[in-house]
Amino acid sequence: MDDAQNMNLPKHVKIVDVGPRDGLQNQPKSVPLDAKVKLVDMLTGAGVPSVEVGAFVSPKWVPQMADTADVMRLISRRAGVSYPVLVPNMKGYEAAKAVGCEEVAIFGAASETFSQKNINCTIAESLDRFRPVAEAALADGVRVRGYISCVLGCPYEGDIAPAAVADVARELDAMGCYEVSLGDTIGTGTPVKAQTMINAVAAHVPSDRLAAHFHDTYGQALANLLAVMQQGVAVIDTAVAGLGGCPYAKGASGNVATEDVLYMLDGLGIETGIDMDKLLTASHFISGVIGRAPASKVAQARLGR
Ligand code: HMG
Ligand code: MG
Repeated sequence: MDDAQNMNLPKHVKIVDVGPRDGLQNQPKSVPLDAKVKLVDMLTGAGVPSVEVGAFVSPKWVPQMADTADVMRLISRRAGVSYPVLVPNMKGYEAAKAVGCEEVAIFGAASETFSQKNINCTIAESLDRFRPVAEAALADGVRVRGYISCVLGCPYEGDIAPAAVADVARELDAMGCYEVSLGDTIGTGTPVKAQTMINAVAAHVPSDRLAAHFHDTYGQALANLLAVMQQGVAVIDTAVAGLGGCPYAKGASGNVATEDVLYMLDGLGIETGIDMDKLLTASHFISGVIGRAPASKVAQARLGR
């Protein structure tokens, strides 16, 4: 029996690199279009099966994502790779459709205050906005992913009840989301809390249709990922170089770095299809563009070799 089976872990994990969206949406300086395109192509060239390209949101709210349509047009789309984009409403969906997006993500929250700050409406209003988006997308043959923010804590409200996360997950599932991604937006979760939250959600949406989207603000992301993989979660959102932070969650750092997750999964014998050397090349490339060192431990350790 191998390591992964011993620990009751999945044999294969799908990585969704959200770096080009979650990672770049909060950069103080705008990232040039050609660098965004190159980053997406480098990630898919490294074998990442799903790369979140950008967001069709208000450019007044998130100016860094204003060129998402151009990024979508200029990337080299590879067969079998998914290129999701965030859409908060029908306006965003129509823009995504116009450039041939085949997957969109609607994004809600388990915290009322975060919902207001992030998308300017209550949770119930957000679900009312998402329903027609999901209906239109499914009718067009476009896949819909659902997000829930603040699943393990909110920057404004503190603790969030697992039942509140489960309620939103049930709604997104009922709309036809093929997967619900659970965001520890401010990275305050710890392993048993993460497992308790997954248990509550999995009572409504099975864990093989859940994704873990953990930010690493308190250095807990890898431990939390190991904990939830033991409950059957086999899709992990990451950001190359640990890029990011959320414009509506002050102090939040980036998603757990793709390289660090890959190192752990490789060590556990869990397949991802991703090449570490090519991934590190992408990590150094984008870090150079934004003028900082990669936040990932693996990139730092390999530099010292
Ligand atoms: P609003 O101001 O209430 O919207 O914003 P509105 O419908 O009243 O429209 C206001 C203006 O925005 C109008 O333009 C609209 O046309 C325009 P104006 O007439 O003033 O010139 N507008 C749009 N423009 C482009 N694309 C659109 C769109 N919709 C309206 N889709 C809205 C509501 C949702 C639009 C706004 O709050 C918004 O864009 N929010 C996005 C916030 C965001 O992107 N946050 C980061 C992503 S979420 C995240 O990071 C968490 C996650 O990673 C998971 C985790 O970590 O937990 C997913
Ligand atoms: Mg996020």
